Amino acid sequence: MCGIVGYIGDKNCVPILINGLKRLEYRGYDSAGLGVIINHECRVVKNKGQVALLEKKLEEVSLSGNLGIGHTRWATHGVPNEINAHPHFNSSKNLLVIHNGIIENYQTLKAGLQKFGYKFISDTDSEVIPHLIDSFLIKGHSLFKSVQLALSEVEGTYGLIVIYDEEPDRMIAARKGSPLVLGIGDKENFVASDVSAILAHTKQIVYLEDGEVVEVFKDHFIAKTVLDKEIEKEVHEITMTLDEIDKGGFAHFMLKEIMEQPESICNSMRGRLLLDKGTSKLGGLESVADRLASSSRIIISACGTSWHAGLVGEYMLEQFTRIPTEVEYASEFRYRNPVVNKDDAIFFISQSGETADTLAALREAKDKGALVLGICNAVGSSIARESIAGVYTHAGPEIGVASTKAFTSQLVVLALITLLIARKKNMSLVDGKSIAEELKTIPDKISKILKLNDTIEEIAAEFKDVKNFLYLGRGYNFPVALEGALKLKEISYIHAEGYPAAEMKHGPIALIDENMPAVFIAPKDSTYEKIISNIEEIKARKGRIIAIASENDDKIDNLVDYSIKIPDTIRMLMPILTVIPLQLLAYHIAVKKGLNVDQPRNLAKSVTVE
Ligand code: F6R
Repeated sequence: MCGIVGYIGDKNCVPILINGLKRLEYRGYDSAGLGVIINHECRVVKNKGQVALLEKKLEEVSLSGNLGIGHTRWATHGVPNEINAHPHFNSSKNLLVIHNGIIENYQTLKAGLQKFGYKFISDTDSEVIPHLIDSFLIKGHSLFKSVQLALSEVEGTYGLIVIYDEEPDRMIAARKGSPLVLGIGDKENFVASDVSAILAHTKQIVYLEDGEVVEVFKDHFIAKTVLDKEIEKEVHEITMTLDEIDKGGFAHFMLKEIMEQPESICNSMRGRLLLDKGTSKLGGLESVADRLASSSRIIISACGTSWHAGLVGEYMLEQFTRIPTEVEYASEFRYRNPVVNKDDAIFFISQSGETADTLAALREAKDKGALVLGICNAVGSSIARESIAGVYTHAGPEIGVASTKAFTSQLVVLALITLLIARKKNMSLVDGKSIAEELKTIPDKISKILKLNDTIEEIAAEFKDVKNFLYLGRGYNFPVALEGALKLKEISYIHAEGYPAAEMKHGPIALIDENMPAVFIAPKDSTYEKIISNIEEIKARKGRIIAIASENDDKIDNLVDYSIKIPDTIRMLMPILTVIPLQLLAYHIAVKKGLNVDQPRNLAKSVTVE
C-alpha cells in the first residue's frame, strides 16, 4: 500500500506534492512525509498521522524546491511513527527514497549492509533501499546505475522514487508489483502511485511495468529495465476529470459514492445492453466469448467486497448458464496449488486492479494455462493489463475506503456476463429480453431507495451504540448479508457477522438477546416464507430486528422493529438493490459515532501487499 508522488520542474514542488498526497491518502494514512532538494541539500519534513497534520507542520517550516517527493504510509514493517515515516535517508543524508511495497529479503540485506557500517534508524524494510543504493554510489556508479544494481538484489515488491543531491536534475522511479505512473507535463514531469495524484497537472500518462526503471528529468525521461535494456514507452491521454475525484459537496466520499450509484450503474451498462436481442455486448470479452461459453468450469477469485460480488456472480452464472462456478479468496487460491484446467475460465474481480493477492492469483492461473479474465474498475491497472480479456466496470474513481459503487457496478457487469454466456447457450430470447429490460430499470429503483436516506439515518441513531450485529439473508441475499456486515465492521468498528439466514439455528442463535440486533434481508422472493420463520425465531429470543423488505410487504411490519421498504426486481438483480440500505446504515452509524468514515483505522483502499 502507501501512496507516492514526485515532481520535477520549475514550480515549487511542495504544494503539488501535498495535494497529490491528499489524493493518495486512500492508500494509507499512518504517516506522511516530504523530501525536497534545495541548493544541493536534501531536506525532509515528516509526521505521524494524516497529510493534514504534515501540512500544518509545514506552516512552521520553510520548505520549497523544484525537485521533491512525497509519501503517505500504510504501515507494514514498523509502527506508525515519525521515524518510520518516509522519505528515508542513506547514512550521509544526501539521498532520499520513498517506497510502496515490501522488501522481503530486507533482513539479509540489512545484516550485510550493517557489516559495512551502515546505520539503520527505522524499523522499516524500506530503509535498506537508500543504504543499498548508497553502497553502489560510493563505488562511483551514477544514481541510475546504482538504483538498477540495488534493485537487482532486492526481493519483493516496490514502487519507489529516489532523489540525490549530487544529481538534482532528475528523479529515478522504479516499479515491481506496486503501481506507478509517470505524468508528462510542459517542462515538468511527475511520478505517482496513480493518476489521481497528478490529474490537476496533466492527462498525459505513461504506465510503468514491473521491472522498469525510469530516469525522469523536467523535459524528458529515459526508461530501461532493471537489467539495463532500453524500452520505448507509450504516452496515453486519459479521460478522467478532477470533478470525478472530488467530494462534490458531500460530507464524505463514501456518501457521495453511495449517492452516485444510479449514475455509476448506468455507466456500467452504457452501450452494453442489447434489449432487442436480449443479450449484452461486451467488447472486452468478444475475442473469448465462445471459449468462455464452452468452459467446463468458471472460477471467480477476488478479495473483500469484490469477493462478495463474486459470490453473487456464482449464483447468477450457475442459475442461468449451468456452468459449474466456484468462488475463491485470491489469497487462498494462490497458496494452495489449485487444480486449474486449460478449459477453465477464471474471472478476477478487483476495483483497484492492484490488489496484490488477486494479482498473484491471476499470475498463478495464467501460468497454469487458464483463460484469465479481469473485471476491474481502475482503467490501465495491473490486473486489467495482465488479463487475457476482461470488462471494465466504469463506476468512476472510488475514493472512500469502504467500497460501495464499485460493488454494485461489479454486480451489474456480472449480470451482463451471465446474460452474454446464457444467451450463447440455452437462454431463450424472451428470457434474455426480460432480464435486459429489468436491468434497465435498476438505476431508477436505486434512486428511489436513496430517498430513504433520512429514515435510515434515524434507524442508525437507534443502533449506534450496540456492540454486535448479525446480518442474515438467503440465496442471492446471503452475499449481501456478508457485504452489509463488512461495511459496518470496517467503518464503525462494530463487530458484525453475515450468515445464511438458515444457518443461524446451527450456532449463532446462541448469541441472540436484546443486545444483539439482526438485520434481515427479506425481500418477497421464493425464500420469503422461510426467512419469516427465521425472523420469528429471533423475535422469540428478544432480538431487535431491522428488515430490508419489499415495498408491498405489510405483513413484515408486525414482526420487526424497523423495516426499510425497497422496490422489487428479479432475484438475480435483487442484491444490487438490497445492499444500498445496508451501505447507508453503516455510513450513518459510523458518522453518528464520530468516526472517520473515509479513512477507517488500519485500512487502506488498495491493498498492494500480500
Ligand atoms: C471493503 C473493501 C475491501 C476491498 C478489497 C479488494 O469495503 O473495499 O474489502 O473490496 O480490499 O479490493 P479490490 O476490489 O480493489 O481488489
